[in-house]
Amino acid sequence: MSRSRIVATGSYLPERVVTNRDMEGWMETSDAWIRQRSGIRERRFAADGEATSDLGLVAARRCLEAADLAPGAIDLILFATSTADYLVPGAACFLQHKLGTRPVGAIDVRGQCSGFLYALALADVYVRAGEAERVLVVGAEVQSAGLDLSDTGRDTAVLFGDGAGAVVVEGAADDDHGLLATHLGADGGFVDALSIPVPGTARRPFLDDQQVGAGLHRIHMDGRLVFKQAVVQMPAALRAACDRAGVAVADLDWVVPHQANQRILDVTADALGLPRERVVSTVATTGNTTAASIPIALDTAVGDGRIRPGHLVGMVAFGAGFTWAAAVARW
Ligand code: ACO
Repeated sequence: MSRSRIVATGSYLPERVVTNRDMEGWMETSDAWIRQRSGIRERRFAADGEATSDLGLVAARRCLEAADLAPGAIDLILFATSTADYLVPGAACFLQHKLGTRPVGAIDVRGQCSGFLYALALADVYVRAGEAERVLVVGAEVQSAGLDLSDTGRDTAVLFGDGAGAVVVEGAADDDHGLLATHLGADGGFVDALSIPVPGTARRPFLDDQQVGAGLHRIHMDGRLVFKQAVVQMPAALRAACDRAGVAVADLDWVVPHQANQRILDVTADALGLPRERVVSTVATTGNTTAASIPIALDTAVGDGRIRPGHLVGMVAFGAGFTWAAAVARW
């Protein structure tokens, strides 16, 4: 098998829409501040009792339906998330049971905002190695459960949303279509620039009231540092994947990036010398859905007919770690 291919996509956004105006009622912020800094108008929040695997389940079912496949056809589940249902076990196990697949391998991938592309790269290797015929790759997040929706959390709470996306990866029928290249990277020197430190084994006790009182179980972010690194690493990662694929960046019909915020997307497009219209953006209505953002954007652009067979599609992400990843596919 020389290539793997994404044969179907699916996505799901929870029903509850949370607008910037809603945010204004909970914390000292404004619609204008949020829009100007991030391009976000609204995002979705999961309902009480709706866990990350529940979102992933709907996206996975839609994806399987699009592929005309039954759950029994899946050989491996890769679940990218940073907000799993439980700390242990992983969200992939919850999904395996809810979806009703055979008792196949079910792996959580913790690559944060780069998690979906990390998982896609693993799926590509499994399929090309002949170790799996068909891999379900899911990216899903319920960020809202952990957000601090008060003044103290306003620097991060306004940016994130919930959602899920899924793809099925299998062997390509020919060499002209499929994943041409992937590229992964990380620089752990930046672990504290974007993190949720607790609960974790870096501290004793594992979790106590004092840590919760200090908000260590919430997202901590150096927003400016994240911005500066993202706009360097995302173009570099996509260039590296294009080089490996033997294609020019200018030949990309579409770039489907991690939906961090519109300013990061615009600066990335400019740095790559690509028209901004070729960069798929859902951020205005989804916010940043971390590992779910690329498969949601991909499903959106496939569904509305922008991405068509034969198109050259670049995907690129940057996130906590810092991590970054890119992939190039001939659709
Ligand atoms: N509403 C109103 N004011 C706010 C809010 C808010 N929600 N949050 C912070 N502020 C205030 C700050 O307190 C600060 O006030 P001060 O000047 O009195 O101290 C002021 O706004 C300006 O803050 P800055 O940090 O200068 O704002 P900046 O222009 O850097 O924008 C932002 C902040 C949007 C976080 C920006 O740095 C950014 O986009 N960073 C990238 C972060 C990102 O995308 N993270 C997502 C996760 S990682 C990823 O997905 C790649």
